[in-house]
Amino acid sequence: MNAVILGIGSALPKKCVSNDELPSSLNTSDEWIVSRTGVKQRYVACDGETTASLAVEASAKALLMAKIAPADVDLIVLATVTGDYSFPSTATIVQRNLGIEKAVAFDVGAACSGFIYALDIADSRIRLGKSRCALVIGAETFSRLLDWSDRSTCVLFGDGAGAMVLGAADSPCGVQSCMVYSDGVGIDHLKTSGGISTTQTAGVVEMNGREVFRFAVEKFTESLEELLRLHHMTVDDIDLIVPHQANIRIVEKLMERFNIPREKVLVTIHKHANTSAASIPLSLAELGAGIFSKKNVVLLSVGAGFTWGAALLRFEPSAQPEDNIYEKKR
Ligand code: ACO
Repeated sequence: MNAVILGIGSALPKKCVSNDELPSSLNTSDEWIVSRTGVKQRYVACDGETTASLAVEASAKALLMAKIAPADVDLIVLATVTGDYSFPSTATIVQRNLGIEKAVAFDVGAACSGFIYALDIADSRIRLGKSRCALVIGAETFSRLLDWSDRSTCVLFGDGAGAMVLGAADSPCGVQSCMVYSDGVGIDHLKTSGGISTTQTAGVVEMNGREVFRFAVEKFTESLEELLRLHHMTVDDIDLIVPHQANIRIVEKLMERFNIPREKVLVTIHKHANTSAASIPLSLAELGAGIFSKKNVVLLSVGAGFTWGAALLRFEPSAQPEDNIYEKKR
């Protein structure tokens, strides 16, 4: 049994802030931010917009594309480090707000690698026969975890959510493999300045940008090599690579190392900035139903911890949502 992708959706806060609209007190510039990171703008949650509200909107769109009723969802895995509350989980808030009465719902915290971690859990449960229809969500309101006077971090991040619907199907398509790793050696390079058990506050983002950059390039490279080796593939066999959107220069290093043509890499950092766990599904959702025309899609992530991961998704170009495999197999 494979976990096939049936739908994808995304949500962004209403407010978009361009580099030029950042406070002048930051003493930064559009030129510096674009040339060092690729970021041109970010979306910032306003009053009433939360990680859960963005996750609900993204999930509702994904379910609509998948033609799946909320009642059919039996698993919700939500990747976030900016949940609405310490508890209950943001996944259960999504569950209630979508009217899903009975499911397994929980959050996963793996920072920017959270979506691939969540995908790995959903894929494993579907393969084991423990779940049949999963909502896998990456959702963040990182703007609320930033020190808005620290120009070295606050210009990099944004808010948003992306969701994917997976269904169990006897099909060669779907999640082909998911690899997730972590190494606690990185804990001091990217972290918050506080936490519930230490300072009783959420803290703000602190980062050793250079070290994170070096590690991200190394792990993107290792992960892609491992995935290609595992599947006896070359870059030519890949239709699309969707990397975590942290810095365009990290992505360019990967393209150089593997000689990957630009059109094979999905880049949305200029629009969304780094939305942590939401970054990969938010990018993927930009393609809408166009995702079904890509046969082999690779996801790559690196995040705080350090955590990293890669996944290979396979789509059947003929299996549009109108004709989805899950419906036929039920
Ligand atoms: N505007 C203007 N100047 C700035 C800004 C800014 N926004 N930010 C930093 N600078 C200055 C610094 O103060 C420094 O000035 P100095 O030389 O006078 O001290 C200078 O620019 C160079 O700073 P560096 O930190 O060396 O700049 P660098 O080229 O390394 O770029 C950056 C910094 C963009 C943060 C880069 O290191 C990076 O992208 N790192 C990876 C970040 C990343 O991937 N994060 C992932 C987060 S994942 C998660 O799990 C949350």
